[in-house]
This record gives sequence, C-alpha cells and structure tokens, in this order.
Amino acid sequence: MTTLKTIIEPFRIKAVEPIRLTTEPEREELLQEAHWNLFLLRARDVLIDLLTDSGTGAMSNAQWAALMRGDESYAGSDSFFRFRDAVQHLTGYTHVIPTHQGRAAEHILFAIVGGAGKAVLSNTHFDTTRANVEVSGAEALDLVVASAADPTSEFAFKGNIDLERLEHELVTRGRERVPLVLLTVTNNAGGGQPVSMANARAVREVTRRHGVPLYFDACRFAENCYFIKTREPGYAERSVESIAQELFALGDGCTMSAKKDGLANIGGFLATNDDGLAEQARNLLILTEGFPTYGGLAGRDLDAIAQGLVEVVDEEYLHYRIVSTAYLCNNLHRAGVPVVRPAGGHAVYLDATRFLPHVPRGQHPGQAIAAALYRVGGIRGCEMGTVMFPHLLDSERPELVRLALPRRVYTQSHIDYVVEAVTEVFRTRETLRGYRIVREPARLRHFTCHFEALE
Ligand code: F0G
Repeated sequence: MTTLKTIIEPFRIKAVEPIRLTTEPEREELLQEAHWNLFLLRARDVLIDLLTDSGTGAMSNAQWAALMRGDESYAGSDSFFRFRDAVQHLTGYTHVIPTHQGRAAEHILFAIVGGAGKAVLSNTHFDTTRANVEVSGAEALDLVVASAADPTSEFAFKGNIDLERLEHELVTRGRERVPLVLLTVTNNAGGGQPVSMANARAVREVTRRHGVPLYFDACRFAENCYFIKTREPGYAERSVESIAQELFALGDGCTMSAKKDGLANIGGFLATNDDGLAEQARNLLILTEGFPTYGGLAGRDLDAIAQGLVEVVDEEYLHYRIVSTAYLCNNLHRAGVPVVRPAGGHAVYLDATRFLPHVPRGQHPGQAIAAALYRVGGIRGCEMGTVMFPHLLDSERPELVRLALPRRVYTQSHIDYVVEAVTEVFRTRETLRGYRIVREPARLRHFTCHFEALE
C-alpha cells in the first residue's frame, strides 16, 4: 500500500464567504480611525482574521442540519437533552447548565465560590476568568511551570501546573480560603500549551488530600487530549474521546466555552458534580441567562453544540488542526521569527520581547507588531502582552502576539500568505516604534483602549 505524505484539509467547501482585499494606504487610514486598536476595526476591513479562534469556526453540514432540529420550547426542550447527553458523555458530570458563553459560566461559578480573602489557583487564568475571580473579591493566582515562561523550551507540556507551588499555596492558605483549583486546558494565555494527564492526575491527588475541588476550564479540551495522545507515553493507541473522559473524570466540574472546542459560534456551560453548587448556579442563571434548560441559548444553538462535541474528537479533524497550527509555527521559526515553541493547539504566538528588543515593555511591543501586521498584510492578530495583562509590566515573562486559527476556516494558501506577511514585518522590525495608551476603561482594557503611536 502506498501512503501519501501530503496532509489535506479533511473537508471540502460548500459555502464561501468572500474576503475583501484592501491596500496598505487604506489600512493605514483604517488603523488611525480605530485608534490603533484592532478590536475597533470593522471585520470587513480585515483580510485574514486571526484575532481569535472563539466562535469564528465553520460549522459542518451536520451541524447546519442540526439547527433545523432545534426545539425552541422555553422549558424542557429536546435540544437541551441532546446537549446535556453530549456533555455528559464526555465529562460524566451530573449537572449540565447551559450559558450563552464561557465567561457567563465563570461569572456564575465565581459569584458562588469566590469572595474576599479567597484565592483561586490555576495553571493560568484566561483574562475573563481572572476578571470574574477578581470581581468576586478573590485573588487569581497563576502557578504554571517555569518552562512556560521560556518560549524556546521544547517541553511537551508547558501548560502544566507547578505542583510544588500548588502544594505550598494549599498548605499556607488552607482549604477554607481556596474554593477550587482550575486547570485551563489548553493553557491559552500561556501559548496554547497542553497539560499532561500525569500533571492533571497529580493535581487531583494534591487537591483530594487538601479537600479542595478540581475544575477544568475546558475550552480546548479536545486539542489538549490530542496532544496527550501524541506526546504522552501510554496514550497513542487510545481514542481522543476516551482520553477526554479520563481527564474529566479527574475533576469535579468544568466551565466551557463552546465557541472553541464545541465547534459552535456561540454557547458554553458549567458542569459539576456538586448538587448544592448546581442549585445555586441555576438560581443565578435565571437572573441573567435564562431558564436552566436553555441558559441564554436558542434550542438550535444547543443542537449545534451537541453535534460539535461529537465532531471535535474526530481524530482526522484533530490531526489536520494540530498539523496546520504547527505548519504556521514551524515556517515562521525557520524564517527566524521568534515564536513560542513548540506549536500550541489553536494559535501561534509571536514572542514580541525578542521580536522587538528595541521597544521597551512600557511601550507595548506586542501592540506594535499587531498594528504592523495589519498595516502590511491586513492580518488581525491579538496582543497578549502588557496591554491585555497590565500585571506583566513588572514581570520578566515574554510579551506575546497571538495568531489564533479559526477552526475549518482558512486553507493552506491563506497560511502561506500569513507566513509571508509576518516574515516581512520581521525583516523591517527596526522601523517599528512603540505605542502609548491614551484612553482606557477600568477592566479588560485591551478591548476598547485607544493608542497613540510614539515617534
Ligand atoms: N477560558 C479560556 C481559556 C478562553 O480562552 C476563553 C475565551 C474563555 C475562558 C471565555 O470564553 O469567550 O466564551 O466567554 N477566549 C477567547 C479567546 C475570547 O480569544 O481566546 P467566552
């Protein structure tokens, strides 16, 4: 038998969405109008949109068909039960509470378990997660392994939590002040890097000893489980579905944004084995999201997610997904562009600190690269440095620019174009200057702040 080596997109395209081409002078003007904040651009002015992999994926024909099955009954709809069964099949958790997206689940969870004097311990909190913990009055502590801060380290599981620091925090704070430990899989803010099963198992052991619940931020669980299959001894012959079941079984619950590995454009959920917490969560849910069998979603959304959760553990899909992210990462690496190694699951992260050594941290080198990428190539990436995470200002951790890949949306030639544009920005990096923030809100400033380019 001949085995061909070329890896292809495992789908063909049935509906197309035209991309509007723009010129560099046009983009220069558009940038100015958007106060150099890429979140303030109109999407129609973006050529390749790598701002996020969240809610930006393409649904399959089966998902579009599932929309028609959507049962829009206010209470007890069939769509809810299909959704609940799909979530329970993977996670095994008793209570499944739909929400309109991940952060709504986080908000409800931390409104219940958070509060002043408490601390949530995580490998790394994503920005909305951190904000929801902090709004409750609690502290959000990131305890990721040291290699996560080294973009050149090729360690296979840079999303792992540092077990010694975890133990230390649990001992010094005590169970009353740590409502839960949260493992983010994969670790988005830390480069899309996975957590190993061995690490999750060890976290389970430590948390059980201290009587503290373990939750997952499960946004990209399938990508994480594919890394476990391909990188962790003992998992090569296991299905990704069964690996996911094993991982979730270590925890007491999870929050999830279905906009990532739910392969849907909207949706999320909170799932838990804790009866008391579930009851409180449903009471809060009614205030802001809706009745517990729809939680802010249409019945058809619940059906799209139920189908998405089946497709996302398909290994041909995951192989294509992980290989195409690595293709972008490896090509940039070969061109000399500083990137976080090894490639993560959903995105490639440029290391702005090494990319622009002449731009000081306080002048937001990540923002300078993101703006230049838009000007040169019409590409929209996302700064993940001192703009998104102001606390990085006093830290040695590298500033990153994320190029997130929407699921099943772009083809290899789009990615070749991105490689060319990033390489061009890198070649002319010495001409780039930093930025100053001239207007910002109290929280989550990256979404709306205004910049001014420095001379
Ligand atoms: N947790 C992680 C790890 C995330 O990456 C996100 C969203 C959330 C929680 C919140 O989910 O958006 O459905 O409310 N991340 C998006 C991103 C926004 O671009 O990485 P949500």
